[in-house]
Amino acid sequence: VLHGTKPLGHPLHPAITDVPIGAWTVVFLLDVAAHFWHTVPAQAVEFTLAIGVGSALIAVLSGLTDYQDTFGHERRIATAHGLTMAAVLILESLSLVLRLWAGASAHGAAVVLSALGLLFLGVGGYLGGHLVFAMGTMVNRNAFLEGPTDFIDVGEGAAFAEGRCVRVQAADLPVLVVRTQGRLQAISAVCSHAGGPLDEGVLEGDVVTCPWHGSRFRMTDGQVLRGPATFSQPVLVVEERDGHVLLRRN
Ligand code: FES
Repeated sequence: VLHGTKPLGHPLHPAITDVPIGAWTVVFLLDVAAHFWHTVPAQAVEFTLAIGVGSALIAVLSGLTDYQDTFGHERRIATAHGLTMAAVLILESLSLVLRLWAGASAHGAAVVLSALGLLFLGVGGYLGGHLVFAMGTMVNRNAFLEGPTDFIDVGEGAAFAEGRCVRVQAADLPVLVVRTQGRLQAISAVCSHAGGPLDEGVLEGDVVTCPWHGSRFRMTDGQVLRGPATFSQPVLVVEERDGHVLLRRN
């Protein structure tokens, strides 16, 4: 659920982070408005700030869940992103505490903390964007692979033994082909999560487990059954003709 595999079928973290980012931006704007017009109810600002803090807690949990599967340079950027966002959450939470319980004398400090939090939020957001758009974290690794539109010969049927994972190349798409109960099935061999080689995974019945982070996919329809992957695998049409195996995009 925290990856977004179920029920969203889409990464949860970038979706949920929009809520605190929006809420804390509104808090800043309301603080500015209150400074000039004195007609902004304090409760409205506190309520908006509280929505930001509450939703940020879910964002932290989903971010930490995605963080477990990062490595190398990606992990270093993710660490910087996570620590910056944790600092933002602390600043905004302190601001909320001051507004609710410290009285009018601490209002100025509370406003400064919120504004500071928004500044850090820009830095953390930049790092998060870098992770996704520059490094491809949680991006569907099959997004730019198309596969053949017409049937393409990928070898003799005898090469695809029962229960064995076989990797073949079909145009630009590496494909995992397995024979279960005599029937051939084929999905992209590139794990949608981070590009792990599914042909090196474990096949149990018609379910294959990725060797890198353990995502599980059903061979019959490519459906992701367990994360961290959130996107299903592209499925290919398989035919056996004259002892040869043919594949094309579904
Ligand atoms: S690459 Fe991460 S689960 Fe496959």
